[in-house]
Amino acid sequence: MGALEGKVAIVTGAGQGVGRCHAELLATEGASVVVNDFADTAAGVAQAITAAGGTAIAHRSDIADWAATGGLVNAAIDAFGDVDIVVNNAGFVRDAMSFSMTEEQFDTVVGVHLKGHVTTAHWAAQHWRAAAKALSDGELPKQRRIINTSSESGLFGGPAQMNYGSAKAGIVGLTRILAKELGKYGVTVNCIAPRARTKMNENIAMFAPHEGDGFDPYDPAHVSPMVAWLASDAAHDVNGKTFIVTGDEIHVMSEPQVAGTIMAGDERWTVEAISARREELFAQDGPAISPWGGPAMR
Ligand SMILES: NC(=O)c1ccc[n+]([C@@H]2O[C@H](COP(=O)([O-])OP(=O)(O)OC[C@H]3O[C@@H](n4cnc5c(N)ncnc54)[C@H](O)[C@@H]3O)[C@@H](O)[C@H]2O)c1
Repeated sequence: MGALEGKVAIVTGAGQGVGRCHAELLATEGASVVVNDFADTAAGVAQAITAAGGTAIAHRSDIADWAATGGLVNAAIDAFGDVDIVVNNAGFVRDAMSFSMTEEQFDTVVGVHLKGHVTTAHWAAQHWRAAAKALSDGELPKQRRIINTSSESGLFGGPAQMNYGSAKAGIVGLTRILAKELGKYGVTVNCIAPRARTKMNENIAMFAPHEGDGFDPYDPAHVSPMVAWLASDAAHDVNGKTFIVTGDEIHVMSEPQVAGTIMAGDERWTVEAISARREELFAQDGPAISPWGGPAMR
């Protein structure tokens, strides 16, 4: 029996690349899959999954379109009765340096990545909240999942990608927010930053076609087992985390921490006083801070 038997998954941007690999593996693990893409490739992927013995339908829509994404979530519920797993993967790049980028390049890339994660989360969360509220006393909510897609450009900063990288950094923040909001409805929310050879990056030298029969570190199919695992019940206690996933490597990112603190002692800081104590600020010790409503952390 597969790890996702009986579950219903939506994979956005699954017409090719990493998303196609996710859709195929989730189906192999037993999920019924809605293959989303705004390109007409979605139908072929759904047909290939069905031909291989899996269960899938295609839904062609633009993930940056708020209302159309409501239709995507409804299509999953209409076809398969529910939606348990949302894999937010769709996207494209329009790289340019900050001084050259157009408004259109900025808006469309932030739209497909950051807004394209928010749209699915909004509609799926509405459905999951209603389902949880309909439970009888003592009945536990079903296990649900959102798996988001960031990028090392967002984690470490990619030049010529102030649109893409800032959207991808926003997706890491969004992951933490949704993880805190939706836990009570049985939903965990995690994030991956993949690295693989796809149409998005095939012109970059490091992603040149693999030679020989050995392990191809940039085969996009290597990214999908981590997504399937995060989607499974086995990962029920993993929430709000970001992972870099590539080839045979899985890395978990550390969580943000306060690295140093200086306190003026019931006085407003002055520029001179900050200068005088900069060594102390960057010395990586000092008292911990309590974020809004949270426990003290360093
Ligand atoms: N390939 C990598 O090394 C890499 C690295 C970091 C992050 N990523 C991320 O992984 C995800 C998948 O990228 P990929 O490399 O497979 O790229 P890809 O170009 O092969 O696939 C992206 C898919 O998303 C679809 N898509 C684009 N905009 C859409 C929209 N508005 N609505 C619905 N579908 C849409 C495209 O049609 C395409 O099928 C992206 O979010 C990308 O930013 C990839």
